[in-house]
Amino acid sequence: MSDGYYSSKKTDDICGQRAGREAFSMSRLRCILRGLDLKTLLFLFVVLPFGICLLYVHGHKVTYFLRPLWESPPKPFHMIPHYYQENVSMESLCKLHGWKTREFPRRVFDAVLFSNEVDILTIRWKELYPYITQFVLLESNSTFSGIRKKLVFAENREKFKFIEQRLTYGVIGGRFKKGENPFVEEAYQRVALDQLLKIAGIEDDDLLIMSDVDEIPSAHSINLLRWCDDIPPVLHLQLRNYLYSFEFYIDNKSWRASVHRYQRGRTRYAHYRQTNNLLSDAGWHCSFCFRHISEFIFKMKAYSHNDRVRFAHFLNPKRIQDVICRGANLFDMLPEEYTFREIIGKIGDIPHSYSAVHLPAYLLENARKYKYLLPGNCRRESG
Ligand SMILES: *[C@@H]1O[C@H](CO)[C@@H](O)[C@H](O)[C@H]1NC(C)=O
Ligand SMILES: *[C@@H]1O[C@H](CO)[C@@H](O)[C@H](O)[C@H]1NC(C)=O
Ligand SMILES: *[C@@H]1O[C@H](CO)[C@@H](O)[C@H](O)[C@H]1NC(C)=O
Repeated sequence: MSDGYYSSKKTDDICGQRAGREAFSMSRLRCILRGLDLKTLLFLFVVLPFGICLLYVHGHKVTYFLRPLWESPPKPFHMIPHYYQENVSMESLCKLHGWKTREFPRRVFDAVLFSNEVDILTIRWKELYPYITQFVLLESNSTFSGIRKKLVFAENREKFKFIEQRLTYGVIGGRFKKGENPFVEEAYQRVALDQLLKIAGIEDDDLLIMSDVDEIPSAHSINLLRWCDDIPPVLHLQLRNYLYSFEFYIDNKSWRASVHRYQRGRTRYAHYRQTNNLLSDAGWHCSFCFRHISEFIFKMKAYSHNDRVRFAHFLNPKRIQDVICRGANLFDMLPEEYTFREIIGKIGDIPHSYSAVHLPAYLLENARKYKYLLPGNCRRESG
């Protein structure tokens, strides 16, 4: 200990004398280097570069973690309790909700912007089939982020023969504006969907479901809303959030899907918060629930938050398969929450769920075909 102290003190002295005479020379640099002990050198050339790398790769997590400091949670919803059991009559159900029963049900329109989710669309439409008057679907040859895409629905239309009689299908050309915010293209497509709904013949007081394809209301929830009078003019649906398949249940905080009693000139197709009313436990939201790894890659590049693909290796098929089976995050992000408690509670992989109770009926009836969506089958087909 004392020896080291002595020697470093000595070097200091020598250097001090020299520096006075020949400032800024090479020997001075050598002196400075000699003056630094091993620990400092280690810090400069190992710890610091490593730290900078770490910050480069994981720095975004700091911002996410600190989110509760700069963003406050949205105003809480007014929860509407939801009553349902197969064998309870519609009269009783409406009454339980404080609503009267109608003499005949409302007509229901289901309107979606379609990208490429053929399987999820099938499950959705089979679920809702008995209660939908018109299925309205719009697709574009551009993704929201302005990438060319095929007209996937047109190519697969024969798979949807079961709703052909009730289908209003529209195609819209993308604008392909380079470098534009993806939300602009999305808004543009939603306006076109409003037009398509008029073509489909929607009228005042018809029910209109506004949701993404992968936000699937349960059939009984829609049946309740079409049979009961006095339901709120607009209400959001609380859906159970799943990721990759029904094996990874995240939480029940999905709320963007909504049901509207249509009002000509007032109802606009939107996907943001439009009211405080939220009907509890009304369906499923299965994000990134794709059959093929290639569809994951397409979605990661195409969707409105495509800036989250920060490194090319995020798109590596082997990595994606591994992430899916672990229930980890495709973009290596922290949970997007508003309180530290919730962030910390959700850090790490999503726990596996082994319940396939109360999932969409068509999925269970065709479990073999949609195996990858059920617990214990995380491996995806290639191609
Ligand atoms: C439900 O109702 C059906 C027909 O009304 C009846 O056959 C069945 O036994 C009922 N099930 C239960 C569990 O009550
Ligand atoms: C997209 O579709 C529109 C309208 O159908 C068409 O005019 C346009 O050429 C298409 N663009 C591409 C890049 O396919
Ligand atoms: C939603 O999740 C919370 C927390 O896990 C739970 O307490 C609540 O009962 C759930 N609600 C529904 C409708 O599933």
